[in-house]
Amino acid sequence: MDKNSKILLGLVSMLVLGLSFTSCDDGDIAEAKSMTLKDGYVVRLTGSLTNVSSWSSLGKSYTLVVAGFAEGDSFPTISKIIPPSAESLDITLSGMENSVSTIELCAINSIYKRVVSYDTIFSFQDNPGWDPRDTIFYEADGQDVSVYNGIYCKLLAGKGKCFRCHGSGNAPADLHLVGKEASYSELVAMESKTTPGFKRVSPGDAENSILYRVATTAKSDGVTLPWHYDHVSNVDGLDYNNQKLLRDWITAGAKID
Ligand code: HEC
Repeated sequence: MDKNSKILLGLVSMLVLGLSFTSCDDGDIAEAKSMTLKDGYVVRLTGSLTNVSSWSSLGKSYTLVVAGFAEGDSFPTISKIIPPSAESLDITLSGMENSVSTIELCAINSIYKRVVSYDTIFSFQDNPGWDPRDTIFYEADGQDVSVYNGIYCKLLAGKGKCFRCHGSGNAPADLHLVGKEASYSELVAMESKTTPGFKRVSPGDAENSILYRVATTAKSDGVTLPWHYDHVSNVDGLDYNNQKLLRDWITAGAKID
């Protein structure tokens, strides 16, 4: 599912760099100090995205944005909303603070914290010699910015996460989480193997969804876990914000788009 997006270089040269991005951004922000002044930089986002209105279907808590982050920070120093109705994009970000280190396509929550990052549009430390007079062009080519794709990229896929056990082949509870569509169909409205009578995800009802219980119940809470494995204490990523994201997604109907 690799998607190639391209940064078109410079008004002057129109040279096309073959930088490729996957549709899952690990969210690992590399470290470096940039000494350039950034207020002259301009980022222009054009093209189109898929499922742009997905986040607004969760209510007012989340917003899809293009945003600039300082190194290691999860609160943007600058951001622009991507309108949920936008069919084709034309968004310009300018007036950046010097601390900005990456520009990302991401979703933020009500306290402005990044919950999911889909792509790094530009990284200042990877392009130290960038001439600020050259607009940074980013042409989106239909990336899926749905809530579920965000959950999939951030929570399920990637090193040290669910794939470690629930990969392809033999998997605990016969639950395979590799692939966006495949994982969705093994989760949503599917009977739980460990807790008969419950669905893994029951759209609209987080409390009675085994996925949500697995993601929020630790053994230290004094309960016997029907799934025999304390995910909360042992699996990366099950922090408060991600638990809330799962809850909000299930409550809003657990849609794939
Ligand atoms: C270290 C291995 C391991 C990892 C990593 C892991 N799980 Fe599990 N998971 C298990 C085991 C073991 C069970 C219980 C199997 C049983 O009791 O039959 C389980 C059960 C489940 C169930 C219950 C399924 C059902 O049908 O009742 C869900 C949902 C689940 N895991 C989701 C996840 C998610 C989401 C992640 C990543 C955030 C994850 N797991 C990561 C080992 C793991």
